[in-house]
Amino acid sequence: MSPYAHITGWGMAVPERVLTNHDLAQIVDTSDEWILERTGIRERRIASDEQTTASLATDAALKALEMARLNPANLDLIIVATSSPEYIFPATACLVQDRIGANRAGAFDLMAACTGFIFALNIAAQAIRSGDVRSALVIGAETLSRLVDWKDRNTCILFGDGAGAFVLQADPQRGGLLSAVMRSDGSGSDLLSVPGGGSRHPATLETVEQGWHYIQMKGREVFRFATRVMAQATQEAVENAQLTMEDIAIIIPHQANMRIIEAAARSMRVPIDRCYVNIESYGNTSTASIPIAACEAVQNGRLKPGDPVVFVGFGAGLTWGAAVAQWTGPFPGTRPGLPVRYRIYARLRSLLKRLLRRIDALFLWSDD
Ligand code: ACO
Repeated sequence: MSPYAHITGWGMAVPERVLTNHDLAQIVDTSDEWILERTGIRERRIASDEQTTASLATDAALKALEMARLNPANLDLIIVATSSPEYIFPATACLVQDRIGANRAGAFDLMAACTGFIFALNIAAQAIRSGDVRSALVIGAETLSRLVDWKDRNTCILFGDGAGAFVLQADPQRGGLLSAVMRSDGSGSDLLSVPGGGSRHPATLETVEQGWHYIQMKGREVFRFATRVMAQATQEAVENAQLTMEDIAIIIPHQANMRIIEAAARSMRVPIDRCYVNIESYGNTSTASIPIAACEAVQNGRLKPGDPVVFVGFGAGLTWGAAVAQWTGPFPGTRPGLPVRYRIYARLRSLLKRLLRRIDALFLWSDD
């Protein structure tokens, strides 16, 4: 029988720097009242100059591995869902793989905007169900503050930086990820995009002058789309897991706008307090919002082992999706992990490999 993909570890990392609505009102023509009433956001976290998508992802990953008591060397797969990767290539996931010393893991990025974490969770769970992968690390990580036009009040009020990670491990007992729905509609690709810097509009002086390297968004249309699809995807995923909405202990939605979450709860006919909401403190952290909210829900006692939980999100693409899981927790009997040591070993190992590669190149050079 196929093993189930259990969620055995979780961790989050957010920058210390807080940007409040009052701070934003000093930069653009907006107010705390407008932002709070229209979005539910009070403040968001902004990465320091030293922090990047990979550094936040690494911090969250090490916490998740510590929780799962899993040595990174035992990981088979790392997926980083992100819309703000460090580079077009190499994948941010490879940078994380190197920094944590996951020397056996295949690593790649997945780009499905804010729905990315749900897609990544499903792909990792399917790899575990197939039997090829025993343990996987799924990360949602963003530094969207670097893609935001700080002169555009339509977008700069919404986004924040952060990362969240889950460890998935195989076990024959029913639990973990039970079902998932993944959907997309590219006809809405113009509603939310970063048009510059890709192969369609390579970076030029003109693209930079036009601001095409910033997030462009048709907010109202994204809003309408989001309220339509959140309930649909949730209900389909719940049915596929052979559960009913009454069975679901908690819904962890993508934290984009409080009014979207309220509208989705109404369509699902569930009380709003069944949804976990922390948008007030972090804004929209895109692929990181669901794992960050899940970490906080566990910490606040809202999500406990055995609880059926729904993760549901939407984003650019357009993409949307939902996943149903039975929350597990660390497998019993495993020894505590040592994340600080893993970080140091990984750094030494990486330096040594770089040095060996240089020596290798020297010999190749001398052969010519
Ligand atoms: N402060 C003050 N006024 C503002 C601001 C602001 N920050 N932003 C817009 N306004 C003004 C507008 O100019 C407009 O004025 P007008 O009527 O004179 O033209 C008025 O407020 C109303 O604007 P709307 O766009 O209708 O405001 P709305 O209530 O729709 O809220 C918002 C805008 C918050 C962007 C909302 O549409 C929304 O949340 N949409 C979804 C966006 C989203 O979730 N994006 C992320 C998707 S996930 C991903 O993939 C990254």
